[in-house]
Amino acid sequence: MLSVPDQVLLIVVGTTALALILFFIFSLWDQIRAAVLNEAPFVSAPEEAIDDIVAALDPQVGDAVYDLGCGDGIVLRALHAANPKARYIGIEKGMIPFVTAKWRCKHLPRRAVKIRRDDFFETDLCPANKVYVYLYAHVLDMLLPKFKRELPKGAIVVSLDYQFSDRKPDKVITLDHRGGARGRRLSVYRF
Ligand SMILES: C[S@@+](CC[C@H](N)C(=O)[O-])C[C@H]1O[C@@H](n2cnc3c(N)ncnc32)[C@H](O)[C@@H]1O
Repeated sequence: MLSVPDQVLLIVVGTTALALILFFIFSLWDQIRAAVLNEAPFVSAPEEAIDDIVAALDPQVGDAVYDLGCGDGIVLRALHAANPKARYIGIEKGMIPFVTAKWRCKHLPRRAVKIRRDDFFETDLCPANKVYVYLYAHVLDMLLPKFKRELPKGAIVVSLDYQFSDRKPDKVITLDHRGGARGRRLSVYRF
């Protein structure tokens, strides 16, 4: 018969192991699903690019800034820190990035930063006047008709690294930090 401290230890170790296994399974599932469906996988924007992303979006009072596929919410947190008076909405389909984003943004007011577990193809974008995306070009192409249909006139889309195949950006910002191959440019589109 195990002593009470041993039983407690066993429960703690067992629960931690189970949590780690579930985390691993869900992460793997997110990545496999993204690969099979040819979707953008969960990869955070590089730290070095964050200030430039915030500067390009330039959040102002009254803005509704959407991060489509918000990952772990790194950009939403930086945007909120830059201007807590705008509204930020993160849409994320993957279970692990969604839970991580919720956890990392838990100290931020819900009225300012909302994270929704949703498919961005199903999300109403009419309220957005600024959109940030870090998604493959073919996913951007699939989103383009939705952007044209739903975004209000004058809304901007800021895309990290990838561009639409058939639409020229209004502005390209080259990021000259010394990171790796990711986070090299921002393309700004006005709708
Ligand atoms: C490359 S990550 C970008 C994360 C974050 N925007 C950033 O810049 O750090 C792309 C994210 O989009 C999410 N995603 C892909 N397809 C999606 C969809 N249809 N609806 C919602 N999220 C999606 C993925 O789960 C992933 O977390």
